[in-house]
Amino acid sequence: MPLPERAIDGVIDELSGDHVAGWMMDPADPASRLAYEVVCTQSGRILGSGVADQYRHHLNYNRIGDAAHGFHTRLSAPPAAPGAITVRAAGARSGLPVADNPRASFEPLLHVAMDIVDNCNLRCPFCLYDYAGTHNTHFMTEQTLARALRLLPYVRDGQFWFSCLHEPTLHPRLTSFIDTVPREYRKKVFYTTNLAKRMPDSYYTWLAESGMYNINISIESRDPAIYERMRKGARHRIFQDNWDRLLDAFTRAAAPPRLRYIAMVYKSNAEELPGLATYLMEERGAWRVEFRYTFDMPHIPTEFRATEFLDAADWVRLRERLPSYPADRLLLLPPPAPRPGVDAPASPDDMAPCMPDYYTFRLSWDGTLRVSGISPRSRYGQTIEREMLVGNINEIADARLFIAGLSSNACR
Ligand SMILES: C[S@@+](CC[C@H](N)C(=O)[O-])C[C@H]1O[C@@H](n2cnc3c(N)ncnc32)[C@H](O)[C@@H]1O
Ligand code: SF4
Repeated sequence: MPLPERAIDGVIDELSGDHVAGWMMDPADPASRLAYEVVCTQSGRILGSGVADQYRHHLNYNRIGDAAHGFHTRLSAPPAAPGAITVRAAGARSGLPVADNPRASFEPLLHVAMDIVDNCNLRCPFCLYDYAGTHNTHFMTEQTLARALRLLPYVRDGQFWFSCLHEPTLHPRLTSFIDTVPREYRKKVFYTTNLAKRMPDSYYTWLAESGMYNINISIESRDPAIYERMRKGARHRIFQDNWDRLLDAFTRAAAPPRLRYIAMVYKSNAEELPGLATYLMEERGAWRVEFRYTFDMPHIPTEFRATEFLDAADWVRLRERLPSYPADRLLLLPPPAPRPGVDAPASPDDMAPCMPDYYTFRLSWDGTLRVSGISPRSRYGQTIEREMLVGNINEIADARLFIAGLSSNACR
């Protein structure tokens, strides 16, 4: 009688005509990395092989080992029939299960973080961006946008950003820019707004019908004084009026974008946040609520840091007081706790080839493009990104060839 096979955890979560990806781990030995082979279930041919050692952010999120158990293989030949593929640990008889809705297209861009302007109407003291030298606003042109939108097929749902560092509602053609996105790709698109610029009713009606995946709204407090201190330059009554009209338009729409609220966490608003979470969920249509620590930047005023940043005990207290919602609906993001030996800065040797077919793109208003790859040394919550190249989207003749070239030239 054959010995029972050892149990392997894992799943195939991407399966297209030319690639397969997923993760596998030996639950009895999570520190080991499993060798795997990709097999055509009809012909028995081996179509790929490797070691499941790639970092996956979602494995960290779900606390699976140290999160470095992913695999990704371009098939050496198409399978005998569509989907006739299995992936098994080397030497095993049975293959991994396939996820309920495996990604069926080749989407190697984890996100495209684009800004269509380079300025903001506000000057929040905690802002990531140092606006000290900014006195003018530049706007992305239609031509640059058209060139950027060629990346849409290669990015995942909800991961084509129309704003990253700046305020998208400053662009006078924001709505026509979104309208340029083909309907079938609208679910890939979102932007984050401070909702502090007065906008006409027609904007909210358009937004509700836009077909975008989600909209992020930034709000630290319902208290006008705290709100205006945090959102420097904003008027609470204008924000509130915008918010009411947005919700009114969303209530009337058949499939409005999901609403994600982001609040930065400070001493001034920490007491209010548990109640704010419930209010946003129950009365303001929240799909997700995120309470976020400040990515510390040298230009953030020292006094603001000293008076407003929470200490470790404050974060624990806040977590204990939050209402209970599923972890993917209410996210508390405290500063990452240092993990000796894990979070040590990567040495240049560690930054050897990035993982193939997992990239992040950053695009500025003028088309400047920064491409980063993910280091295979990433572990737990630390995703190490390595800048691979800087160019301009306007100079890329063929987006598909450009992306294919990334893996063949820079990452293998
Ligand atoms: C940079 S803003 C750009 C969009 C828009 N101006 C806004 O504030 O909503 C994007 C998001 O990053 C958040 N943010 C700003 N500064 C941050 C920092 N230092 N660390 C983490 N998040 C920050 C904002 O609150 C906002 O939710
Ligand atoms: S509204 Fe957004 S971009 Fe503007 S200053 Fe505040 S955080 Fe920065």
